[in-house]
Amino acid sequence: MQNHHIALTVNDEATEVAFAPYKTLLEVLREDLNLCGTKHGCELGECGACAVLLDGQPVLSCLVLGVECEGRSVTTVEGLARDGRLHPLQETFADLGAAQCGYCTPGFLVTAKALLDEHAHPTRDQIREALSGNLCRCTGYQQIFEAVEKAIGDRSPERLAIRESPDGASLSNEHARSAGLSGERHQ
Ligand code: FES
Ligand code: FES
Repeated sequence: MQNHHIALTVNDEATEVAFAPYKTLLEVLREDLNLCGTKHGCELGECGACAVLLDGQPVLSCLVLGVECEGRSVTTVEGLARDGRLHPLQETFADLGAAQCGYCTPGFLVTAKALLDEHAHPTRDQIREALSGNLCRCTGYQQIFEAVEKAIGDRSPERLAIRESPDGASLSNEHARSAGLSGERHQ
């Protein structure tokens, strides 16, 4: 089968990639772009582990075909940090124990980022609703909701502007790596 070739933006970088046309965005990210922060879970749209932002909106990358992403902008967990500095959500997830095994964490982080980009001060119910498609077997969710709420309080205008980062995959923050917050713990 002939590969399909597309041009898109990934974590603020213009990117070209060729892949088998049946591949999902999840597979293209992990297998063809070596962005393994986005996690492979159920592949059925039920766990949220594979969530990324597509043109700023959260999508389940296991349900999106790579060929649908021509000309579009994808943000993964690797793109949340900027200049080696964590996104406020990454910091509060680490501080409050919202990342334990870390497998669900990239999906929660990008989904929460989309919420905060749209609502400066979401309520607990809005946070719960926005994250309702993301499953976590470790935390009981309380720490995750609290981490999102703390990130709201911690955000300064300049940090609010943090978007995708070209060097997000090379975070120097050891704590972030150990907590799986940059998506590096699990491949
Ligand atoms: S792997 Fe996509 S929702 Fe579970
Ligand atoms: S931290 Fe382990 S599944 Fe959420």
